[in-house]
Amino acid sequence: MLATLIYRSRLTHALDPSLLAELVKEANIRNAELQVTGVLLFNGDQFLQVLEGPAEGVNAIFNRISRDSRHSDIVELLRDFAPERRFRGRGLVLFDLRQNKPGVALRTILKFGTLKYHLARHDRVYKFIRDFIATPASERRVETFSAARWRLQSKASPFAAIGLPLQENQPCQFAFQPIVDPGRGTISSLEALIRGPDGGSPQDYFASIPEQKLHEADLASKGWALAMARQLGIGNHKVAVNLLPMSLVKIPGAVDILLGHITRNHLDPEQVIVEVTEDEVISSYDEFTSAIRQLRAAGIGLAIDDFGSGFAGLSLLAKFQPDKLKIDRSIVTDIHMHGPKQAIVKAIVACCAEMQITVVAEGVEKIEEWCWLNAAGIERFQGYLFARPVLNGVPAVNWPLRVSR
Ligand SMILES: Cc1cc2nc3c(=O)[nH]c(=O)nc-3n(C[C@H](O)[C@H](O)[C@H](O)COP(=O)(O)O)c2cc1C
Repeated sequence: MLATLIYRSRLTHALDPSLLAELVKEANIRNAELQVTGVLLFNGDQFLQVLEGPAEGVNAIFNRISRDSRHSDIVELLRDFAPERRFRGRGLVLFDLRQNKPGVALRTILKFGTLKYHLARHDRVYKFIRDFIATPASERRVETFSAARWRLQSKASPFAAIGLPLQENQPCQFAFQPIVDPGRGTISSLEALIRGPDGGSPQDYFASIPEQKLHEADLASKGWALAMARQLGIGNHKVAVNLLPMSLVKIPGAVDILLGHITRNHLDPEQVIVEVTEDEVISSYDEFTSAIRQLRAAGIGLAIDDFGSGFAGLSLLAKFQPDKLKIDRSIVTDIHMHGPKQAIVKAIVACCAEMQITVVAEGVEKIEEWCWLNAAGIERFQGYLFARPVLNGVPAVNWPLRVSR
């Protein structure tokens, strides 16, 4: 299958631009071996490269290119398949935009198109090229997210010691993971993640419960989560718990039971956030609506969890406007290198800002991911970079500190 890949990157000091022609000459030989064709645009500071050919060849070359220290801030913009090559017969053509007028460069590139599926104006590849040519290097803001500018400083969290003893008859345990606001240096809330009595995964725990008892057990487990939160001394912090929305619908008086757990543990309903996942919401819209009304009326917060991993999309936000929206790790992972993910997160941030919904990025593991997300306007983060969940306790938090030069 004929694959197309476009990325942009930025020249580093390791490459003298006068040596670009030489680089392209060598690249041409390697590309020909792997039947890869394409163009490389250079505007004096940034590159835009189109690679097309058999998927294995394109991937192999892109892997090498990604490791090349002569450019940095590589962001993949497009990965697609096409019926025909756009740059047939051209291993790698270099367009130095400093030596070509934008209109001329664009016309020349258009002419490369093959006869059948020529590089038409509606073609996405053409549009990426057109945009790159139209914006001069001086006007194109390229953010550099270098992990070397940061170091992490571990600081114990202000909660009771790890390893609370299990209570008699306690059917489940919880691992707590902080959600942090590194800009302010604060822990905004703790998420209580359910674990089995032996510390096993949530899947194993729920699999061990008979189906007809599932919702009852789910609701009852919140009592244990909140009791642990109290023992940890969460003070004014918020605690987030995951709940199956159907537990609120199927168990009579469920919200009152939940409120009972909250007050018994001397917590305020406004300190508690119920997290539900997209999939659960769309599989039971009407019941979910009534359950959420009750929750909100009781003052309990609502968060949509794993946003972006399911199928509900933005229409979910229009219908249920939660206090919090947690962006799924599948979108967060390597976001600093991925143009389509960046476009999606920018849209989520913009619409949540208009609705005054707090955005949390989940599954943050790399400094560069945090830096990109923070520059996009996200202030709250959860992930191994800051703290891993700890069974029956709260972990220390790694706070990023700027390295002084
Ligand atoms: C902007 C830029 C574009 C490049 N394009 C290609 C290319 O299309 N094909 C290629 O084989 N090498 C290309 N290279 C060079 C590769 O990064 C790498 O140096 C080369 O493939 C040799 O790989 P190796 O060092 O793993 O042996 C490019 C380098 C840069 C900086």
